[in-house]
Amino acid sequence: MLDVKSLAGGYGAIDVLFDVDLRIEQGQVVALCGRNGMGKTSTIRAIMGALTHRAGTIHFAGQTLVGMPSHQIARLGVGLVPEGRQLFQSLSVRENLEVLARGSSGGWTMQRALDLFPQLGKMLERPAWQTSGGEQQMIAISRALMTNPKLLILDEATEGLAPLVRHQIWQTLHRLKTEGLALLVVDKNLRALSRIADFCYVLERGRTSWRGTGEQLAAERENVERMLTV
Ligand SMILES: Nc1ncnc2c1ncn2[C@@H]1O[C@H](COP(=O)(O)OP(=O)(O)OP(=O)(O)O)[C@@H](O)[C@H]1O
Ligand SMILES: [Mg+2]
Repeated sequence: MLDVKSLAGGYGAIDVLFDVDLRIEQGQVVALCGRNGMGKTSTIRAIMGALTHRAGTIHFAGQTLVGMPSHQIARLGVGLVPEGRQLFQSLSVRENLEVLARGSSGGWTMQRALDLFPQLGKMLERPAWQTSGGEQQMIAISRALMTNPKLLILDEATEGLAPLVRHQIWQTLHRLKTEGLALLVVDKNLRALSRIADFCYVLERGRTSWRGTGEQLAAERENVERMLTV
């Protein structure tokens, strides 16, 4: 459903991606790894239409995304849980969930999101800034789901969270996978990734440096781990 080939791009005149490949089939979970600053978020920005394109192709659901405005890419069915969550802090939890909602045609309703994260139900009228880091992440995931994505991209969704909350997020991702949603997961936890990912890519300085199936990742985890530590 998503096919990124030999992608190169950057921020204005600064090049940060040189040769990135990434492929996600329907219903697959794909992991994207790499040390800090290697280009994971930039790759996601490129998919979302927010990076200067230099070379290569990006196809999603039979269409080319290069040159397409971000809102149109989102409408095609790419949902994003951005790095740092990026909630609308002064809006209530309810408003954050509703603001990008695209009707119930794809099946995601407020009720279904609250079924995923029941604790949010008790704080719907609270402004987002009055929620904890873990709750903010749950709101960010729910907000993205409310757009009825075909592919959900999560950029460091477990970063900086308490172990119990992390566990809940991973459990949620497993549940979404079971329901058939395709996921692109950027995370540092290779053990958790190897349990859920069908395929994994590692980036080094803007290039795809390793790729393998979930089984290969599990088998070569120490080797891959070494690529991810300085
Ligand atoms: N707005 C920007 N303008 C110029 N360069 C940028 C900008 N954002 C990121 N970069 C550079 O692009 C490169 C890739 O950054 P990117 O944020 O994609 O890395 P990352 O793999 O997501 O890292 P992290 O694990 O720290 O989130 C880095 O060298 C970074 O300094
Ligand atoms: Mg990043």
